[in-house]
Amino acid sequence: MRKFPKYMYVVNYPIQEEEICHLEMKVVFGKELEDKMLFSDVKFNPSNSPFIKTRLDILYEKDTVEEILEEIIKDKTIYDNFKLEYVRLTNENNIPYEERLDIIRKLSNKIEGCHNFKNPEFNFGITKIENKWLFGIDNKNDYKWHAHDNKPCSYSNSLGVKVAKAVVNIANSGSIDKTIVDPCCGVGTTLVEALDAGYKIEGYEINTQIANNANINLEFYGFDPIVVNDDMHNIQKNYDSSIVDIPYGLFSHISADEQRKIIETARRISRRIVLISFENHDLMLEESGFKIQHRCIVPKGKFKRFIVVAE
Ligand SMILES: C[S@@+](CC[C@H](N)C(=O)[O-])C[C@H]1O[C@@H](n2cnc3c(N)ncnc32)[C@H](O)[C@@H]1O
Repeated sequence: MRKFPKYMYVVNYPIQEEEICHLEMKVVFGKELEDKMLFSDVKFNPSNSPFIKTRLDILYEKDTVEEILEEIIKDKTIYDNFKLEYVRLTNENNIPYEERLDIIRKLSNKIEGCHNFKNPEFNFGITKIENKWLFGIDNKNDYKWHAHDNKPCSYSNSLGVKVAKAVVNIANSGSIDKTIVDPCCGVGTTLVEALDAGYKIEGYEINTQIANNANINLEFYGFDPIVVNDDMHNIQKNYDSSIVDIPYGLFSHISADEQRKIIETARRISRRIVLISFENHDLMLEESGFKIQHRCIVPKGKFKRFIVVAE
C-alpha cells in the first residue's frame, strides 16, 4: 500500500520570502508546507513556481534500495540519455555523499539505456524519507523565467518576478481554467508570468505610455500585446479573480478615496482579489464586500508589501 501521494515537491526560499512561499503552497496544494517539502496528488509544474525546486513523480516506494533495484530490473523500457540523481532535501536529513554516490552507481547500472549527464532526456531521482526509499521521475524547475528579470521596459514600482509568479498562482489556486484580470497592470509583470504559466489573464492600464510599454514587454517574450489602455472602472466583464497592485501615494498621487474605488470596482468585476499594497486596506476590502481569507507580508527594502487574498 502507498504511504505517500503521487508527487513529492522540494521547495526553497530565502527567509524574507518565507511567508509568500508558504501562502503559495497553501493555496495551490491546500496544505501547509513543512520542512520545505510537500507531498500531494496535485500535479503542478515546478517551473511555474518561484519556490519549487523539483517535483518527484513517485514510481516506486520501498523499504530498501535493493527493492528499488528489483523494480528497476523488472522495467525493460530503454531510457537512452538518462540521468539519475539523488534528490537532496532541504531539511538536512540527507544521507552522506559517498553513500549517495554508491546508490546512484548501483541503480544507474541497472537502468536500461545509456547515461547522459550533460543533456539527459529522462531525469530520474531517488531519495530517502521517513525510512522509505522513493524513486521516480525528477522534474526540476527550469528557471527559464529568470529571463523575465530583464524586461525591455521597466518601472520603479514594478513587482519582482518572484512575487508576480507567486501571486498569479495564489490568484487562481494554480488552476488554468479560471480567468484573471490585472486591472492596474503597470508594465505587465504579472501578465508575463501568468501567460508564461498558461493562465487566462487580461490587463488594463490607464496610462498610455505605461500600457504601450507593457505591450512591448509582452511581445518581447512572445506573447500577444493584450494590454488595454483604459480606466479599470470601464471594465464590463467578470473574472474569477483580480490581481490588484494598488497605486500608492509613495510613488503616484492617489487619494484614499480613489484606492477605495479601485477595490470596489475589483469587487464588481471579480469574485476573488489578491490585493498588493504598502498599506493596510483591510477595512476598504471589508466595506467593499470582500472577506479576507489569507495574508502575508513581503519585505521590499525599507518597506513592507502586504498581500491579502479575499473573496
Ligand atoms: C503599482 S502600479 C502597478 C505595477 C505593476 N504591478 C507592475 O509590476 O508593473 C499601478 C498602476 O495602476 C495604474 N492605474 C492607476 N489608476 C488606474 C485605473 N483607474 N485604471 C487602470 N490603471 C490604473 C497606474 O498607471 C500604475 O501603472
